[in-house]
Amino acid sequence: MEKIWWQGEIVYQIYPKSFSDSNHDGIGDLKGITSKLDYLNDLGITMLWICPIYPSPMDDNGYDISDYFGVAPEFGTLQDLEELIEEAIKSGIKIILDLVVNHTSDEHNWFKDVLANPNSKYKDYYVIKEGKTKPTNWRSVFGGSVWEKIPGREEYYFHSFGKKQPDLNWENPELRQEIYKMVNWWLDKGISGFRIDAITFIKKDLAWKNLPVDGVDGLSKVTKSGRNMPGIDVFLKELQRETFSKHHCVTVAEAPGVGYDELGQFIGEDGFFDMIFDFKYADLDVKSGSEWFVRLPWTYRELNDKIMDSQEAIQRYGWGANFIENHDQPRATTKYLQKKARNSDAVKTLGAMYFFLKGTPFIYQGQELGVINFERETVSDFNDLSSIDQYQRSINEGLTPEEALHIVNLRSRDNSRTPFPWSAEENGGFSTATPWLKVTESYTEINAAQVGVEGSIYEFYKEMIDFRQHGKYFETLVYGDIARLPLESDEMIAYKRIGQTETIYAYFNFGNEVLNLPNSRAKEIIFETAKGTKLENGQIQLPANTGILVKS
Ligand code: NOJ
Ligand code: CA
Repeated sequence: MEKIWWQGEIVYQIYPKSFSDSNHDGIGDLKGITSKLDYLNDLGITMLWICPIYPSPMDDNGYDISDYFGVAPEFGTLQDLEELIEEAIKSGIKIILDLVVNHTSDEHNWFKDVLANPNSKYKDYYVIKEGKTKPTNWRSVFGGSVWEKIPGREEYYFHSFGKKQPDLNWENPELRQEIYKMVNWWLDKGISGFRIDAITFIKKDLAWKNLPVDGVDGLSKVTKSGRNMPGIDVFLKELQRETFSKHHCVTVAEAPGVGYDELGQFIGEDGFFDMIFDFKYADLDVKSGSEWFVRLPWTYRELNDKIMDSQEAIQRYGWGANFIENHDQPRATTKYLQKKARNSDAVKTLGAMYFFLKGTPFIYQGQELGVINFERETVSDFNDLSSIDQYQRSINEGLTPEEALHIVNLRSRDNSRTPFPWSAEENGGFSTATPWLKVTESYTEINAAQVGVEGSIYEFYKEMIDFRQHGKYFETLVYGDIARLPLESDEMIAYKRIGQTETIYAYFNFGNEVLNLPNSRAKEIIFETAKGTKLENGQIQLPANTGILVKS
């Protein structure tokens, strides 16, 4: 694959409501982000992905947009955004925004017109069906039917996600043109591209057939007929041709439901996007990302195999966006390390394990501090739509309220959405006002006071970023191919990166015992997550909770 600028970036994801609150109203904002550019620069990241900043009733915290061309007043003004883009560019940091075009808010003017006016010209901008009953038995991602009755009419509108997120009708060429105009408008503003939300949902099976029931609610998952359906390529090709291809930009798609055999179309040469996120190992602890109540046991060997399947598939066709956390996932520390979530050696090992995979690394705010999950005691402490739905669904599916609360604590999207812990002060120094969402209880110990503290998780991330970006192994660590290595234990992860001038072997020990790796071809240790690793005559000794990069 030809070398392209975005392969060498390190992306940092910001959830604007929770990053930094400049005017102390309890809600993070754009000026807050601008005020933290020095922090981000110190860490060494090169690009920001900022989750939606557009006007929104915030039912799904901005993934329900009511105006595509503005900025939510609680986040600031368009001028604040322009200032942030400008200041970021001065610090060498690029910005990508979130593009949410599968649905709008029900408070978008188009949809408001539909509700107000039976003959609205915007009716065909949405997926609306006439009838006395719901057209199908599909379940939306956030629970309940995908169909919602329009008050006073025998009409139903379709929503893949929440009720306040009506799906746009991509079958309508006029709607598509409106979207393209908006995408180009933002790209002309000097942003470097987009993370594209839930894009595989834009094509549904137009036969609108009932599906076999798969839950006690009598419904069936929308994803079976409402996601990545044949014909989606026509829309995505057009989107790319009319917008992205005309700009110097990068696109990262959230494209759930795309099989490995389809990656060529999505991220291959002349694909719809530059990179995609692969969720196949993010959800290894649950039956599915939308059914948390069926928890699955897993081993590091399985995690290794899933990661390597993903890496090999993506490498075959294009480029991937690597992550262990985002605003839809619990904290990686708690998920992947469980009892060892607060063991800083284990946290560093986990960080290095995914960071040196092939692809562009994404770091989610707070990951660089080793933030862990919270423990909420009542369901009323949750803000996230899906957490509240999963709690109720779990009880309906037979779990006790205690069990339901436990699984929601483990998986809740709120875990990663809590205010950023800047310090041990009240509310983690995020705001002097009561924050919109309660902080994670551990903020007094896990916070950004780590900056400058030798041996801290923050300093480790900084060192790791510097090693990839500015060290002598940049070429191999960024562009080198990836391949599997044999595993000597069920509690390790291993791979090699094959460059032009060297091969780098990466081994990570998640077990509690020293791991002895005989017969490696290693000659030199080039990176270790903690002191104490050993290499002698090709024999590697890895203490518990450590990782190592060696070269041959
Ligand atoms: C995926 C986003 O990441 C998530 O936060 C959101 O709720 C859904 N798409 C709907 O937009
Ligand atoms: Ca604020």
